[in-house]
Amino acid sequence: MRLGILGGGQLARMLALAAHPHGVTCTVLDPSADPCAGAVADVIRGEYDDLQALYRLARASDVVTYEFENVPVASARWLAERVPVFPAPAALEVSQDRVVEKTFFAKLGIPTPPFADVSSRDDFDAALRGIGLPAVLKTRRFGYDGKGQAVLRTPEDAEQAWARLGGRPLILEGFVAFDRELSLIAVRSAHGECRCYPLVENEHRDGMLHRSLAPAADTGEELFGRACDFAERILAELDYVGVLAVEWFQDGPRLIANEMAPRVHNSGHWTIEGAACSQFENHIRAVCGLPLGATRTRGHSAMFNLIGRRPDFDKILLSSGTHLHWYGKEPKPRRKVGHVTVAAETLEERDWIVEELLARHDFAIR
Ligand SMILES: Nc1ncnc2c1ncn2[C@@H]1O[C@H](COP(=O)(O)OP(=O)(O)O)[C@@H](O)[C@H]1O
Ligand SMILES: [Mg+2]
Repeated sequence: MRLGILGGGQLARMLALAAHPHGVTCTVLDPSADPCAGAVADVIRGEYDDLQALYRLARASDVVTYEFENVPVASARWLAERVPVFPAPAALEVSQDRVVEKTFFAKLGIPTPPFADVSSRDDFDAALRGIGLPAVLKTRRFGYDGKGQAVLRTPEDAEQAWARLGGRPLILEGFVAFDRELSLIAVRSAHGECRCYPLVENEHRDGMLHRSLAPAADTGEELFGRACDFAERILAELDYVGVLAVEWFQDGPRLIANEMAPRVHNSGHWTIEGAACSQFENHIRAVCGLPLGATRTRGHSAMFNLIGRRPDFDKILLSSGTHLHWYGKEPKPRRKVGHVTVAAETLEERDWIVEELLARHDFAIR
């Protein structure tokens, strides 16, 4: 089977690595000269709206998926007329725009922070009055890793944020004083079967994912059940095929949806070593029409992102239980260049290895 992937970054690279053992070969479409998935997949170089490049991808693929949600929806639809595209382009449409996404959640009965569409200065003033401070102002589209957003604590912050972001379509959200951030990785097969990995606890620094702990401590059956129920509503509504990630804020007993990603997700990288079947393998299985793999954990895991610089590999690999994933990219400030997973049988052992690892390497964002 031949799988086409829109986007050739590390997610495509890890998808391709998971695809090979199933006899699935991958071709990625990416605008850059040397995408990191190129080490393990064929590359078509082109913009995401280049019809000739899309045509070549369709010709090279039995099924197409994406690793990147900012692909033009029109391109995904154009492809879908020629070759099956999973998840369906409607999932892209929802997740590309924060107002559409939060309206979609609300329609499905999934709690969100209070939010308002801001397309003008008048809208902004009205939204500030309605939602109050603190709040978060974000671009509706194309934001990632905390880019295109500002936290507003004072009226001065609001003015500064408007000066920086005003003029683009925006959303104002109430600031959620969460206890912690969680995410849920779910997968739905072509036959409609859904499976969820356990809830993961995520720590962001500077708007970027720094660390994930899996499973999250003290979530309980009830919270997990609710997160799965919400995710299954999204999957069913979109007749979704593949892996979906949903980011949550936990505030006491409340679970509030932040955003979703219609693809494999950074907070699911631990599943390569820490789950019976990884998110990458399950995505491959789902979009290729194969049976899903088990989402249960193998012990306890912790994942740290490597951001902005190349670490000393020896220092990272010194303790057994650490696993290095280097993406083969040139380090640049705020660029994700790899990740490290600690996988252990028990929580105590995991925490002990993590402590030892952090004494040798700091995972600060550069
Ligand atoms: N409404 C909010 N209240 C509190 N913190 C927020 C809110 N929205 C975003 N954040 C913080 O900023 C991070 C990045 O925001 P997010 O909307 O997930 O954007 P991105 O698409 O860049 O990941 C979140 O993980 C969270 O830590
Ligand atoms: Mg996010």
